[in-house]
Amino acid sequence: MKGVILAGGTGTRLYPLTRLMNKHLLPVGKYPMVCYGIERLRQGGITDILLVISKQSAGQYTDFLGSGAEFGVSLTYKIQEAAGGIAEALELAEGFILPGERFVVLLGDNLFKDSLEPYVKSYLQQPAGTAKVLLKPVEDARRYGVPVFDSADASLIAYIEEKPEQPKTKFCVTGIYMYDEAVFDIIRRISPSRRGELEITDVNNLYAVERKLSYDVLQGWWSDAGTFQSLREAGDKLRDTLP
Ligand code: DAU
Repeated sequence: MKGVILAGGTGTRLYPLTRLMNKHLLPVGKYPMVCYGIERLRQGGITDILLVISKQSAGQYTDFLGSGAEFGVSLTYKIQEAAGGIAEALELAEGFILPGERFVVLLGDNLFKDSLEPYVKSYLQQPAGTAKVLLKPVEDARRYGVPVFDSADASLIAYIEEKPEQPKTKFCVTGIYMYDEAVFDIIRRISPSRRGELEITDVNNLYAVERKLSYDVLQGWWSDAGTFQSLREAGDKLRDTLP
């Protein structure tokens, strides 16, 4: 099992701070945000990790993280030239993921307390070519991907609506996804959305329509740290998860 952390994008919701520094390098407690994803993967037994970053901040990542040895992992870096969407960033993992390998994808701004271990274990039981996403109930699902469950098989997602005005469930699809190399063919089947990005929800919906998208629900605290308030809360919640 390998790990991929997507830390490209522009971080406009955290302007003006993100004019100075990439969102995933902003401080959360004592560490830059990206360290928490690395630690969750390491703690879940995943130490071979690809970090997709934007070119403006590449030097800062390598300055701080180096080879990853200090953090108990081995890091590979890839540059996303422009913020063309989460699925575009994910496509850069092709080549890092070898045929037959499975992997966990974390959006770099997703912070959470749960260990990934049980979710990875359950994903490894699934047939090849299927995917899993992790969900979390939220107060206002309108700013997330929102799953609608399969009426015939409650262990599957029927489809996901991206940022719906009237969410059909109280769940958000978090930025924690599990795939194998089949995902790269799926990415090639999607087209840019109206905002010009390759959307991860379009990828997941191609799995869903073939009844190949399962889910688990995170038990502990989760946030996507996209706002100043959630960034501050994250520092408090995660204070003790890194030394
Ligand atoms: O946090 C969970 C949500 O993340 C999901 O519920 C949504 O379905 C999913 O689309 C995503 O929505 P956001 O609007 O929060 O995505 P955002 O554009 O903020 O990007 C999230 C992370 O993905 C960001 O921290 C870095 C990475 N990213 C994003 C883009 C657009 C990249 O690496 N490259 C990119 O081009």
